[in-house]
Amino acid sequence: MPMSDFPAMTSPARPVAARRSAPLRGRARVPGDKSISHRALILGALTVGETRIGGLLEGEDVLNTAKAMQALGARIERTGAGDWRVHGVGVGGFAQPAEPLDFGNSGTGCRLVMGAVAGCPIAATFDGDASLRKRPMRRVLDPLQEMGARVTAEAGGGRLPVTLQGARDALPIVYPTPVPSAQVKSAVLLAGLGAPGATTVIEREATRDHTERLLRHFGADIRTEPDGAHGRRITLTGQPELAPAPVVVPADPSSAAFPLVAALLVPGSDIVLDAVMTNPLRTGLIDTLREMGAAIEPVAVRDDGEEVADLRVRASALRGVDVPGERAPSMIDEYPILAVAAAFAEGVTRMRGLKELRVKESDRLAATAAMLRANGVTVEIEGDDLIVAGRGRATGGGLVATHMDHRIAMAALVMGLASEQPVGIDDAAFIATSFPGFIELMRGLGAEFA
Ligand code: S3P
Repeated sequence: MPMSDFPAMTSPARPVAARRSAPLRGRARVPGDKSISHRALILGALTVGETRIGGLLEGEDVLNTAKAMQALGARIERTGAGDWRVHGVGVGGFAQPAEPLDFGNSGTGCRLVMGAVAGCPIAATFDGDASLRKRPMRRVLDPLQEMGARVTAEAGGGRLPVTLQGARDALPIVYPTPVPSAQVKSAVLLAGLGAPGATTVIEREATRDHTERLLRHFGADIRTEPDGAHGRRITLTGQPELAPAPVVVPADPSSAAFPLVAALLVPGSDIVLDAVMTNPLRTGLIDTLREMGAAIEPVAVRDDGEEVADLRVRASALRGVDVPGERAPSMIDEYPILAVAAAFAEGVTRMRGLKELRVKESDRLAATAAMLRANGVTVEIEGDDLIVAGRGRATGGGLVATHMDHRIAMAALVMGLASEQPVGIDDAAFIATSFPGFIELMRGLGAEFA
């Protein structure tokens, strides 16, 4: 089936409420990892030949990346649920798109494709929804300009829409990333594919390494060495010929986080989440919840190119902890749901060093604090730290503003499953960007929504 026949997943604004539920029981598999899904499509498009992808996340963010790859000349086909084929055009083979590329809500899709385009001699305009138009693009455009790409149009302050003219002969650079961001690292490496010689990214805090793993999988010469206490130095040899290779996308730990915390908080729950990716650069939430006293047990551990495990999760009494700032890159998307867990813990949880949360799909630091306050939880922001005073329970009864942010929406609904009063959200529509079928999956485990 050609991709144009794939149904559009945009739903109208939809308020939903979650209420106190009976114990959650059963097994579930959350959708494929969003980070790997974007990268499999982009790197598949940069190989010569056909790459088969299984378990692709069919959320709006990833579908927008698939459309962008098609607009850049790759042929993309959906052959079944989660099964996709990408006919790549090779490194340097992108065609100039006729229309602006619309990335909807997705910073990852937009920033990674900016990198891939920067290493090709074509011009492309990048755009997105109202949330994405507020997010900073300088962090990617600065290094891409150092590599020879030119920004020929932009809205104020490096905001979308941005028109980028890629470089005919990109320059290989050595780039120490000023912010801990896998998107920035990945954009530079993808641009480096078009450059002769070695492109190096140095990160002070190691961030998710799916780009590096997939580049290696498709045959690139890429080396990773430790750098400092928590950092890495990654070196890619440019202008490779990438060869197609099948990709199986494991379940997304950032999506699994929601049913996982729900099972910890709803008394009497006992669930299994199947085939969750446990790449150590993504498991900060699990480490933190375990420190808080959570019963999370890997029951079948295996390695399919990424480590995966089935996770058994049982309701647990949690206690407050201090979460160090160095852990932030390994759980950057999980703070809203960790803050919910912290509200139901006994004692104070301090989450340190959350500056990056201010530039996510919403100002997630402010939105997380407002979500908890609206439901009777005492919470403070001190500098870049979030401090939650846990009382072992939450009153609930609030209506949460989600600010076009899927993770605020899902965190608030999980809160409602364990609070004394229901918790409402203004709009569940954005959940489809990363976790289509969230409400149905949670209902299957016993969660109650209105
Ligand atoms: C992502 C990196 C993170 C994360 C985002 C996905 C990726 O963003 O928040 O949801 O796939 O590279 P930053 O690179 O901005 O930290």
